[in-house]
Amino acid sequence: MLLQGKTALITGAARGIGKAIALRFAAEGADIAFTDLVLNDEMAAALEATRQEIEAVGVTCRAYAGNAADFAETETLVKQVAADFGHIDILVNNAGITKDGLLLRMSEAQWDAVINVNLKSAFNFIHVCAPIMMRQRQGSIINMASVVGVHGNAGQANYAASKAGLIALAKSVAQELGSRGIRANAIAPGFIETAMTAALPEETRAEWIKHIPLRRGGTVDDIASTALYLASDLSSYVTGQVLQIDGGMNM
Ligand code: NAI
Repeated sequence: MLLQGKTALITGAARGIGKAIALRFAAEGADIAFTDLVLNDEMAAALEATRQEIEAVGVTCRAYAGNAADFAETETLVKQVAADFGHIDILVNNAGITKDGLLLRMSEAQWDAVINVNLKSAFNFIHVCAPIMMRQRQGSIINMASVVGVHGNAGQANYAASKAGLIALAKSVAQELGSRGIRANAIAPGFIETAMTAALPEETRAEWIKHIPLRRGGTVDDIASTALYLASDLSSYVTGQVLQIDGGMNM
């Protein structure tokens, strides 16, 4: 068991990649704290259903409703997680949204929403978790970026900028906190089969797959395996890195 005795905090994990990461970490013995946005009864039910699914693996799991983009809310939430679990060893900044559009047609609201949910949220969580990890003298922080954060993407200026920011944030944290035993890395997934990509038109999906040497979209488990590597001691000498998990789309 690679994560026995560890507590992992994962944002936006009621579904998709975050949920797959939570389940994989739990299978390796980690206790799980995860967050998600809860705006209605359906979202509350999804949060609880995921919590039960993770707990069924045989670890302690608690779900926390919260808007990751809200600094004050995050501060309260993380304090509660620390009180509930006693320590936070792994932080995965996974919560993310898209609000695509060509730059000239992009509204200020589209820009702000994506930057706040994708990038500011990571600042919020790192800001509150880092002092806890510093006291423990160990911790692993993983920012969920994207290949478009490395290469850019027409129609996604807000999203690509937020993901590039997550990469630079991980590298900066790696430099600032390495001496305290804290590692920070980013994962840059390519085209992964989730609700986010299922919403894309079929032609767009086909176009993406054409450019992938492995000729398939990635699975959430492909990303969860990478997160496990970065969270565990398997990567104890790895920090400030961006792992592109994209079937070879970008080399
Ligand atoms: P998803 O939409 O299935 O899951 C994202 C989760 O974040 C949802 O549960 C959502 O409710 C939650 N969330 C949204 N806003 C939030 C907020 N303000 N506070 C807390 N939680 C919030 O998306 P998916 O595909 O699982 O993506 C997860 C991460 O991976 C995202 O950061 C995304 O940008 C990134 N990613 C996904 C790729 C893909 O192909 N699916 C490719 C590259 C990166």
